[in-house]
Amino acid sequence: MTDSPCHSSLYLPFECEIVSVTDLTPGEKLFRVRRKDGAPLGHLPGQFVQLSLLGYGEAPISVASSPTRDGLFELGVRRAGTLTGALHRMNAGDTIGIRGPFGRPFDLPRLRGQDLVLISGGCGLAPMRSLIQYCEDRPDEFGTIAILYGAKNRANTLFKEDLAAWQSSARFACSLTVDNSSDDQCYSGNVGLITALIPPLAFVPEKTIAVIVGPPPMYRAVIDELKKLRLPAGRIVLSLERQMRCGVGKCGHCTIEHLYCCQDGPVFWLNEIEHLRGAV
Ligand SMILES: Cc1cc2nc3c(=O)[nH]c(=O)nc-3n(C[C@H](O)[C@H](O)[C@H](O)COP(=O)(O)OP(=O)(O)OC[C@H]3O[C@@H](n4cnc5c(N)ncnc54)[C@H](O)[C@@H]3O)c2cc1C
Ligand code: FES
Repeated sequence: MTDSPCHSSLYLPFECEIVSVTDLTPGEKLFRVRRKDGAPLGHLPGQFVQLSLLGYGEAPISVASSPTRDGLFELGVRRAGTLTGALHRMNAGDTIGIRGPFGRPFDLPRLRGQDLVLISGGCGLAPMRSLIQYCEDRPDEFGTIAILYGAKNRANTLFKEDLAAWQSSARFACSLTVDNSSDDQCYSGNVGLITALIPPLAFVPEKTIAVIVGPPPMYRAVIDELKKLRLPAGRIVLSLERQMRCGVGKCGHCTIEHLYCCQDGPVFWLNEIEHLRGAV
């Protein structure tokens, strides 16, 4: 049986041009990218793309910018291995392949009108930044917004300029912490795990939704702290990372029991997955 054009196009990368490359940390770069056909990416916050380089393969990467911003989109990429290493050697003007956007985005209709607590760690700030920019551009659609971010140390803190702007913005209450500051005499901010930032939050559980994106060990500890403040699982959103290949629910690489992380997720409500083995 031959694939219909619509089906096969799921596997067909379109060409994109790297418009600019900026260092975020020693191991992470921000790539501003535009489709060569001039069309918008058409994503929503929380979705990812499959980024491809000829001879290196493909990797899922979250979109780090909001669709409310101009025709470009941004990808914050950690140098992890073969493909991301090759991408880090590329420059403005180079061509990459993109499939997508894929995956279930943050549930904007359910977030609207709610107070939000947006909690991210490490690279998790990339997809969270898309949601934060969206909230920034639609200020009347959401209640109060608390941003909590934790990084290993100041050198490994992503999106420093954005964080500084969110800290000085009246729209957000933005708190940062680093795991360790022993090598950094100039740092005078919070030191410790991100969980320490949660107890001081004074939120009303009935009108609050928490969103968590970060490295796997962060989830359980953050969820426990939120539950101590009486936030139910139906008001906690997570974005999960799994090894992926196709990105479109065909290959089975990304399963969490019966769920496909690439299509049913990567964004889940906690009450949809907390009973599944190995989910969080
Ligand atoms: C939905 C989703 C969104 C993601 N968003 C981002 C993002 O915004 N920025 C970013 O830098 N990275 C993101 N990642 C992780 C990124 O896809 C991997 O770092 C990338 O695939 C590594 O490819 P590589 O060829 O450079 O490394 P490889 O040479 O394939 O592997 C290097 C190492 O990374 C590990 N690895 C590969 N894929 C993953 C994965 N999915 N999760 C954890 N470890 C992995 C391998 O096991 C190996 O140890 C995301 C992953 C998913 C599933
Ligand atoms: S990545 Fe292939 S089914 Fe999810």
